[in-house]
Amino acid sequence: MVNIAVLGYGTVGSGVVEVINTNPECINLRAGDEINIKYVLDLREFPGSPIENILVHDFDTIIKDDTVSIVVEVMGGVEPAYTFVKQSLLAGKHVCTSNKELVAKHGPELLTIAREKNINFLFEASVGGGIPIIRPLTSSLTADEIIEISGILNGTTNYILSKMTDEGWDFDKALEKAQALGYAERNPEADIEGYDACRKIAILSSLAFNDNVDFEDIYTEGISSITAMDVAYAKKLDMAIKLLASSKKEDDNFYAMVAPFLVNESNPLHAVNGVFNGIFVKGNVIGDIMFYGSGAGKLPTASAVVSDVVDCVKHINTNISIIWSSKKLPLTNIDEAVFRYFVRIEGRKANRLKDVTDAFGSIEEVVELEGAPDEFGVITDLTSEKNFKERAKKLDGIISRIRIK
Ligand code: HSE
Repeated sequence: MVNIAVLGYGTVGSGVVEVINTNPECINLRAGDEINIKYVLDLREFPGSPIENILVHDFDTIIKDDTVSIVVEVMGGVEPAYTFVKQSLLAGKHVCTSNKELVAKHGPELLTIAREKNINFLFEASVGGGIPIIRPLTSSLTADEIIEISGILNGTTNYILSKMTDEGWDFDKALEKAQALGYAERNPEADIEGYDACRKIAILSSLAFNDNVDFEDIYTEGISSITAMDVAYAKKLDMAIKLLASSKKEDDNFYAMVAPFLVNESNPLHAVNGVFNGIFVKGNVIGDIMFYGSGAGKLPTASAVVSDVVDCVKHINTNISIIWSSKKLPLTNIDEAVFRYFVRIEGRKANRLKDVTDAFGSIEEVVELEGAPDEFGVITDLTSEKNFKERAKKLDGIISRIRIK
Protein backbone atom coordinates (compact mmCIF):
# COMPACT_ATOMS: atom_id res chain seq x y z
CA MET A 1 0.00 0.00 0.00
CA VAL A 2 1.20 3.53 -0.84
CA ASN A 3 0.01 6.34 1.45
CA ILE A 4 -0.66 9.76 -0.02
CA ALA A 5 -1.55 13.11 1.55
CA VAL A 6 -3.66 15.71 -0.25
CA LEU A 7 -2.89 19.36 0.54
CA GLY A 8 -6.08 21.38 0.01
CA TYR A 9 -9.70 20.23 -0.16
CA GLY A 10 -10.96 22.81 -2.63
CA THR A 11 -12.26 22.10 -6.11
CA VAL A 12 -9.27 20.06 -7.31
CA GLY A 13 -8.51 18.42 -3.93
CA SER A 14 -12.06 17.15 -3.51
CA GLY A 15 -11.87 16.01 -7.15
CA VAL A 16 -8.72 13.99 -6.41
CA VAL A 17 -10.50 12.21 -3.53
CA GLU A 18 -13.54 11.61 -5.76
CA VAL A 19 -11.48 10.22 -8.66
CA ILE A 20 -9.58 7.81 -6.38
CA ASN A 21 -12.84 6.70 -4.74
CA THR A 22 -14.61 6.33 -8.11
CA ASN A 23 -12.02 4.17 -9.91
CA PRO A 24 -10.02 2.36 -7.19
CA GLU A 25 -9.66 -0.98 -9.03
CA CYS A 26 -8.35 0.38 -12.33
CA ILE A 27 -6.16 3.00 -10.63
CA ASN A 28 -4.57 0.44 -8.29
CA LEU A 29 -4.17 -2.08 -11.12
CA ARG A 30 -2.33 0.47 -13.26
CA ALA A 31 -0.27 1.73 -10.34
CA GLY A 32 0.66 -1.83 -9.36
CA ASP A 33 -0.13 -1.08 -5.72
CA GLU A 34 -2.99 0.13 -3.56
CA ILE A 35 -3.22 3.92 -3.22
CA ASN A 36 -4.47 5.01 0.19
CA ILE A 37 -5.39 8.62 1.04
CA LYS A 38 -4.01 8.85 4.58
CA TYR A 39 -4.48 12.61 5.13
CA VAL A 40 -6.21 15.62 3.66
CA LEU A 41 -4.86 18.96 4.85
CA ASP A 42 -7.16 21.97 5.00
CA LEU A 43 -7.77 24.76 7.52
CA ARG A 44 -11.54 24.29 7.21
CA GLU A 45 -13.77 21.57 8.72
CA PHE A 46 -15.81 19.28 6.48
CA PRO A 47 -18.30 17.52 8.77
CA GLY A 48 -20.14 14.65 7.10
CA SER A 49 -17.76 14.58 4.12
CA PRO A 50 -15.80 11.48 2.99
CA ILE A 51 -12.60 12.96 4.42
CA GLU A 52 -13.93 13.84 7.85
CA ASN A 53 -11.78 11.22 9.58
CA ILE A 54 -8.55 11.87 7.69
CA LEU A 55 -8.67 15.68 7.82
CA VAL A 56 -5.68 17.38 9.45
CA HIS A 57 -4.98 21.07 9.97
CA ASP A 58 -1.25 20.97 10.52
CA PHE A 59 1.27 20.17 7.77
CA ASP A 60 3.68 18.86 10.45
CA THR A 61 1.50 15.76 10.83
CA ILE A 62 2.18 14.93 7.18
CA ILE A 63 5.85 15.85 6.93
CA LYS A 64 6.68 13.88 10.09
CA ASP A 65 4.85 10.75 8.95
CA ASP A 66 7.42 8.51 7.25
CA THR A 67 4.66 6.26 5.92
CA VAL A 68 3.45 9.04 3.55
CA SER A 69 5.28 8.56 0.24
CA ILE A 70 3.41 10.99 -2.03
CA VAL A 71 2.17 14.51 -1.37
CA VAL A 72 -0.50 15.94 -3.67
CA GLU A 73 -0.40 19.75 -3.63
CA VAL A 74 -3.66 21.25 -4.92
CA MET A 75 -3.86 24.39 -2.78
CA GLY A 76 -2.88 26.86 -5.53
CA GLY A 77 -0.85 30.05 -5.09
CA VAL A 78 2.87 30.23 -4.44
CA GLU A 79 2.84 30.28 -0.63
CA PRO A 80 2.52 28.21 1.47
CA ALA A 81 2.47 25.70 -1.40
CA TYR A 82 6.16 26.27 -2.24
CA THR A 83 7.30 25.78 1.37
CA PHE A 84 5.23 22.60 1.80
CA VAL A 85 6.31 21.14 -1.56
CA LYS A 86 9.99 21.87 -1.00
CA GLN A 87 9.88 20.39 2.51
CA SER A 88 8.09 17.31 1.18
CA LEU A 89 10.70 16.74 -1.55
CA LEU A 90 13.59 17.32 0.87
CA ALA A 91 11.98 14.75 3.17
CA GLY A 92 12.02 12.24 0.28
CA LYS A 93 8.31 12.40 -0.56
CA HIS A 94 7.19 12.49 -4.21
CA VAL A 95 5.05 15.51 -5.10
CA CYS A 96 2.24 15.85 -7.67
CA THR A 97 0.74 19.29 -8.21
CA SER A 98 -1.81 21.15 -10.32
CA ASN A 99 -0.35 24.51 -9.31
CA LYS A 100 0.87 26.42 -12.39
CA GLU A 101 1.98 29.46 -10.39
CA LEU A 102 4.25 27.26 -8.28
CA VAL A 103 5.57 25.29 -11.26
CA ALA A 104 6.20 28.37 -13.44
CA LYS A 105 8.09 30.12 -10.61
CA HIS A 106 10.00 27.25 -8.99
CA GLY A 107 9.90 24.37 -11.51
CA PRO A 108 13.67 24.00 -12.13
CA GLU A 109 14.58 24.12 -8.42
CA LEU A 110 11.92 21.59 -7.40
CA LEU A 111 12.85 19.26 -10.28
CA THR A 112 16.50 19.42 -9.19
CA ILE A 113 15.62 18.43 -5.62
CA ALA A 114 13.49 15.55 -6.91
CA ARG A 115 16.36 14.36 -9.12
CA GLU A 116 18.87 14.55 -6.24
CA LYS A 117 16.52 12.61 -3.95
CA ASN A 118 15.67 10.06 -6.66
CA ILE A 119 11.97 10.85 -6.38
CA ASN A 120 9.49 12.71 -8.61
CA PHE A 121 7.99 16.16 -8.97
CA LEU A 122 5.14 15.84 -11.48
CA PHE A 123 2.73 18.53 -12.70
CA GLU A 124 0.56 17.20 -15.53
CA ALA A 125 -2.51 19.10 -14.28
CA SER A 126 -0.76 22.48 -14.21
CA VAL A 127 -1.41 23.02 -17.94
CA GLY A 128 -4.46 22.04 -19.96
CA GLY A 129 -6.54 20.61 -17.06
CA GLY A 130 -7.29 17.01 -18.00
CA ILE A 131 -5.44 17.08 -21.33
CA PRO A 132 -2.19 15.09 -21.30
CA ILE A 133 0.38 17.62 -22.50
CA ILE A 134 3.27 17.61 -19.99
CA ARG A 135 3.87 13.85 -20.30
CA PRO A 136 3.68 13.94 -24.13
CA LEU A 137 6.27 16.75 -24.16
CA THR A 138 8.63 15.11 -21.66
CA SER A 139 8.17 11.42 -22.45
CA SER A 140 6.60 10.99 -25.90
CA LEU A 141 7.94 13.69 -28.20
CA THR A 142 11.54 12.98 -27.23
CA ALA A 143 12.67 12.39 -30.83
CA ASP A 144 11.72 15.89 -31.93
CA GLU A 145 13.06 19.34 -31.65
CA ILE A 146 9.94 21.31 -30.73
CA ILE A 147 9.73 24.42 -32.85
CA GLU A 148 6.33 25.80 -31.98
CA ILE A 149 3.58 25.55 -29.38
CA SER A 150 0.40 27.50 -29.82
CA GLY A 151 -2.71 27.00 -27.84
CA ILE A 152 -5.85 28.01 -26.07
CA LEU A 153 -4.69 27.39 -22.52
CA ASN A 154 -7.35 29.19 -20.50
CA GLY A 155 -10.86 27.77 -20.32
CA THR A 156 -12.46 30.80 -18.67
CA THR A 157 -11.45 33.29 -21.37
CA ASN A 158 -12.32 30.80 -24.10
CA TYR A 159 -15.79 30.45 -22.58
CA ILE A 160 -16.17 34.25 -22.49
CA LEU A 161 -15.03 34.69 -26.10
CA SER A 162 -17.22 31.79 -27.28
CA LYS A 163 -20.30 33.32 -25.65
CA MET A 164 -19.51 36.75 -27.12
CA THR A 165 -19.34 35.04 -30.53
CA ASP A 166 -22.29 32.67 -30.28
CA GLU A 167 -24.72 34.76 -28.22
CA GLY A 168 -23.62 38.27 -29.21
CA TRP A 169 -23.04 39.13 -25.52
CA ASP A 170 -20.68 41.93 -24.54
CA PHE A 171 -17.61 41.17 -22.45
CA ASP A 172 -19.16 42.12 -19.08
CA LYS A 173 -22.21 39.89 -19.57
CA ALA A 174 -20.07 36.93 -20.65
CA LEU A 175 -17.76 37.43 -17.65
CA GLU A 176 -20.73 37.61 -15.27
CA LYS A 177 -22.06 34.33 -16.66
CA ALA A 178 -18.60 32.72 -16.37
CA GLN A 179 -18.50 33.79 -12.73
CA ALA A 180 -22.03 32.51 -12.07
CA LEU A 181 -21.04 29.11 -13.49
CA GLY A 182 -17.92 28.99 -11.31
CA TYR A 183 -15.46 29.16 -14.23
CA ALA A 184 -14.15 32.63 -13.38
CA GLU A 185 -13.02 33.67 -9.92
CA ARG A 186 -14.70 36.62 -8.22
CA ASN A 187 -11.40 38.39 -8.96
CA PRO A 188 -11.01 37.25 -12.57
CA GLU A 189 -7.82 39.21 -13.30
CA ALA A 190 -5.47 36.21 -13.67
CA ASP A 191 -7.69 34.69 -16.34
CA ILE A 192 -8.91 37.74 -18.28
CA GLU A 193 -5.59 39.59 -18.29
CA GLY A 194 -3.80 36.49 -19.60
CA TYR A 195 -1.59 35.86 -16.53
CA ASP A 196 -2.83 32.27 -16.12
CA ALA A 197 -2.14 31.45 -19.79
CA CYS A 198 1.25 33.19 -19.47
CA ARG A 199 2.36 30.85 -16.68
CA LYS A 200 1.12 27.85 -18.63
CA ILE A 201 3.00 28.75 -21.83
CA ALA A 202 6.10 29.47 -19.70
CA ILE A 203 5.92 25.88 -18.38
CA LEU A 204 5.34 24.32 -21.81
CA SER A 205 8.05 26.43 -23.45
CA SER A 206 10.61 25.57 -20.78
CA LEU A 207 9.93 21.87 -21.32
CA ALA A 208 9.98 22.26 -25.10
CA PHE A 209 13.17 24.32 -25.23
CA ASN A 210 14.90 22.73 -22.16
CA ASP A 211 15.96 26.03 -20.55
CA ASN A 212 13.95 28.27 -18.25
CA VAL A 213 11.41 30.58 -19.87
CA ASP A 214 10.66 33.17 -17.19
CA PHE A 215 6.94 33.97 -17.24
CA GLU A 216 7.79 37.57 -16.37
CA ASP A 217 9.60 37.93 -19.73
CA ILE A 218 6.55 36.87 -21.76
CA TYR A 219 4.63 39.64 -23.53
CA THR A 220 1.05 39.29 -22.24
CA GLU A 221 -2.22 40.91 -23.30
CA GLY A 222 -5.60 39.77 -22.02
CA ILE A 223 -9.11 39.96 -23.45
CA SER A 224 -10.69 42.64 -21.25
CA SER A 225 -10.61 45.22 -24.05
CA ILE A 226 -12.26 42.95 -26.66
CA THR A 227 -15.69 44.35 -27.54
CA ALA A 228 -18.86 42.97 -29.11
CA MET A 229 -17.99 45.05 -32.21
CA ASP A 230 -14.55 43.37 -32.52
CA VAL A 231 -16.35 40.03 -32.41
CA ALA A 232 -18.87 41.16 -35.05
CA TYR A 233 -15.99 42.06 -37.41
CA ALA A 234 -14.35 38.68 -36.70
CA LYS A 235 -17.56 36.90 -37.71
CA LYS A 236 -17.83 38.95 -40.89
CA LEU A 237 -14.28 37.83 -41.72
CA ASP A 238 -15.17 34.14 -40.98
CA MET A 239 -12.69 34.21 -38.11
CA ALA A 240 -12.94 33.88 -34.33
CA ILE A 241 -11.11 35.80 -31.61
CA LYS A 242 -9.12 33.44 -29.36
CA LEU A 243 -6.70 34.14 -26.53
CA LEU A 244 -3.60 32.32 -27.79
CA ALA A 245 -0.53 31.50 -25.77
CA SER A 246 2.33 30.70 -28.08
CA SER A 247 6.03 30.22 -28.32
CA LYS A 248 8.30 29.36 -31.18
CA LYS A 249 11.91 28.92 -32.17
CA GLU A 250 13.08 30.59 -35.37
CA ASP A 251 16.78 30.09 -36.13
CA ASP A 252 18.37 31.05 -32.81
CA ASN A 253 15.49 33.28 -31.69
CA PHE A 254 12.83 32.24 -29.20
CA TYR A 255 9.51 34.09 -29.06
CA ALA A 256 6.73 33.71 -26.50
CA MET A 257 3.55 35.71 -26.07
CA VAL A 258 -0.04 35.67 -24.89
CA ALA A 259 -2.59 37.83 -26.72
CA PRO A 260 -5.99 37.71 -28.42
CA PHE A 261 -5.69 36.69 -32.08
CA LEU A 262 -8.08 36.43 -34.99
CA VAL A 263 -8.05 32.77 -35.99
CA ASN A 264 -9.14 31.61 -39.43
CA GLU A 265 -11.87 28.98 -39.86
CA SER A 266 -9.33 26.59 -41.38
CA ASN A 267 -7.21 26.60 -38.18
CA PRO A 268 -8.24 23.73 -35.84
CA LEU A 269 -8.04 26.13 -32.87
CA HIS A 270 -11.04 27.98 -34.40
CA ALA A 271 -13.25 25.06 -33.38
CA VAL A 272 -12.06 24.96 -29.76
CA ASN A 273 -14.98 26.49 -27.88
CA GLY A 274 -16.30 26.95 -24.35
CA VAL A 275 -14.07 25.86 -21.48
CA PHE A 276 -12.17 23.47 -23.73
CA ASN A 277 -8.46 23.93 -24.41
CA GLY A 278 -6.57 23.08 -27.59
CA ILE A 279 -2.81 22.90 -27.85
CA PHE A 280 -1.02 22.70 -31.16
CA VAL A 281 2.59 21.47 -31.15
CA LYS A 282 4.99 21.45 -34.09
CA GLY A 283 8.07 19.22 -34.08
CA ASN A 284 10.83 19.28 -36.66
CA VAL A 285 10.31 15.63 -37.58
CA ILE A 286 6.78 14.73 -36.45
CA GLY A 287 5.22 17.88 -37.96
CA ASP A 288 1.93 19.09 -36.49
CA ILE A 289 0.02 17.49 -33.66
CA MET A 290 -2.83 18.78 -31.58
CA PHE A 291 -4.13 18.07 -28.09
CA TYR A 292 -7.76 18.87 -27.26
CA GLY A 293 -10.05 18.39 -24.29
CA SER A 294 -11.35 19.64 -20.95
CA GLY A 295 -8.91 22.35 -19.98
CA ALA A 296 -10.33 23.12 -16.56
CA GLY A 297 -12.82 21.82 -14.01
CA LYS A 298 -12.79 19.60 -10.98
CA LEU A 299 -12.74 16.06 -12.34
CA PRO A 300 -10.68 16.58 -15.53
CA THR A 301 -7.98 18.37 -13.52
CA ALA A 302 -8.16 15.75 -10.75
CA SER A 303 -7.85 12.98 -13.35
CA ALA A 304 -4.53 14.48 -14.48
CA VAL A 305 -3.32 14.81 -10.86
CA VAL A 306 -4.18 11.18 -10.11
CA SER A 307 -2.39 10.07 -13.30
CA ASP A 308 0.73 11.66 -11.79
CA VAL A 309 0.15 9.80 -8.51
CA VAL A 310 -0.06 6.55 -10.50
CA ASP A 311 3.20 7.45 -12.27
CA CYS A 312 4.90 8.12 -8.93
CA VAL A 313 3.77 4.74 -7.58
CA LYS A 314 5.10 3.06 -10.76
CA HIS A 315 8.39 4.90 -10.27
CA ILE A 316 8.55 4.85 -6.50
CA ASN A 317 12.33 4.28 -6.51
CA THR A 318 13.17 6.01 -9.80
CA ASN A 319 13.37 9.62 -10.89
CA ILE A 320 11.52 10.24 -14.16
CA SER A 321 13.86 12.52 -16.07
CA ILE A 322 12.30 15.89 -16.87
CA ILE A 323 14.67 18.34 -18.51
CA TRP A 324 14.09 21.96 -17.45
CA SER A 325 17.31 23.71 -16.57
CA SER A 326 17.46 26.83 -14.42
CA LYS A 327 19.43 28.59 -17.20
CA LYS A 328 17.33 31.51 -18.38
CA LEU A 329 16.25 31.35 -22.02
CA PRO A 330 16.48 34.87 -23.48
CA LEU A 331 13.36 35.74 -25.45
CA THR A 332 13.50 37.91 -28.54
CA ASN A 333 11.64 41.20 -28.18
CA ILE A 334 8.14 40.91 -29.60
CA ASP A 335 8.88 44.07 -31.67
CA GLU A 336 10.77 41.75 -34.04
CA ALA A 337 7.80 39.37 -34.49
CA VAL A 338 5.81 39.66 -37.72
CA PHE A 339 2.01 39.59 -38.01
CA ARG A 340 -0.90 40.70 -40.13
CA TYR A 341 -3.19 43.03 -38.18
CA PHE A 342 -6.90 43.72 -38.27
CA VAL A 343 -7.36 47.42 -37.50
CA ARG A 344 -10.61 49.28 -36.81
CA ILE A 345 -10.58 52.90 -37.88
CA GLU A 346 -12.95 55.79 -37.16
CA GLY A 347 -14.62 57.55 -40.06
CA ARG A 348 -16.02 56.62 -43.44
CA LYS A 349 -14.02 54.40 -45.75
CA ALA A 350 -14.49 56.75 -48.72
CA ASN A 351 -12.90 59.64 -46.81
CA ARG A 352 -10.17 57.79 -44.95
CA LEU A 353 -8.87 54.89 -47.02
CA LYS A 354 -6.11 56.98 -48.59
CA ASP A 355 -4.80 58.01 -45.11
CA VAL A 356 -4.83 54.34 -44.13
CA THR A 357 -2.93 53.12 -47.18
CA ASP A 358 -0.48 56.02 -46.78
CA ALA A 359 0.19 54.92 -43.21
CA PHE A 360 0.28 51.13 -43.63
CA GLY A 361 1.38 50.74 -47.24
CA SER A 362 -0.65 48.06 -48.94
CA ILE A 363 -3.86 46.78 -47.39
CA GLU A 364 -5.04 43.19 -47.91
CA GLU A 365 -8.71 43.64 -47.21
CA VAL A 366 -11.21 46.32 -46.22
CA VAL A 367 -14.30 45.35 -44.25
CA GLU A 368 -17.42 47.30 -43.36
CA LEU A 369 -20.23 46.29 -41.02
CA GLU A 370 -23.88 47.13 -41.44
CA GLY A 371 -24.88 49.10 -38.37
CA ALA A 372 -21.43 50.66 -37.96
CA PRO A 373 -21.43 53.43 -40.57
CA ASP A 374 -18.85 55.59 -38.79
CA GLU A 375 -15.99 53.12 -38.87
CA PHE A 376 -14.44 50.41 -41.01
CA GLY A 377 -11.77 47.75 -40.67
CA VAL A 378 -8.67 46.85 -42.65
CA ILE A 379 -6.27 43.94 -42.71
CA THR A 380 -2.65 44.95 -43.13
CA ASP A 381 0.10 43.09 -44.95
CA LEU A 382 2.62 41.12 -42.88
CA THR A 383 4.65 43.60 -40.90
CA SER A 384 6.79 43.59 -37.77
CA GLU A 385 5.28 44.70 -34.47
CA LYS A 386 7.77 47.56 -34.41
CA ASN A 387 6.80 48.75 -37.91
CA PHE A 388 3.14 48.44 -37.10
CA LYS A 389 3.48 50.59 -33.97
CA GLU A 390 5.41 53.26 -35.88
CA ARG A 391 2.91 53.31 -38.72
CA ALA A 392 -0.08 53.33 -36.37
CA LYS A 393 1.32 56.49 -34.74
CA LYS A 394 0.88 58.28 -38.08
CA LEU A 395 -2.83 57.50 -38.25
CA ASP A 396 -5.54 59.21 -36.19
CA GLY A 397 -8.66 57.40 -35.11
CA ILE A 398 -7.48 53.80 -34.61
CA ILE A 399 -10.17 52.18 -32.46
CA SER A 400 -8.52 48.80 -31.91
CA ARG A 401 -6.13 46.31 -33.45
CA ILE A 402 -5.98 42.54 -33.21
CA ARG A 403 -3.21 40.36 -34.57
CA ILE A 404 -4.12 37.63 -37.04
CA LYS A 405 -2.88 34.06 -36.62
N1 HSE B 1 -8.64 29.38 -14.49
C1 HSE B 1 -8.09 28.33 -15.28
C2 HSE B 1 -8.80 28.29 -16.63
C3 HSE B 1 -8.28 27.03 -14.56
O1 HSE B 1 -9.86 28.91 -16.78
O2 HSE B 1 -8.30 27.67 -17.57
C4 HSE B 1 -7.50 25.88 -15.14
O3 HSE B 1 -6.12 26.10 -15.07
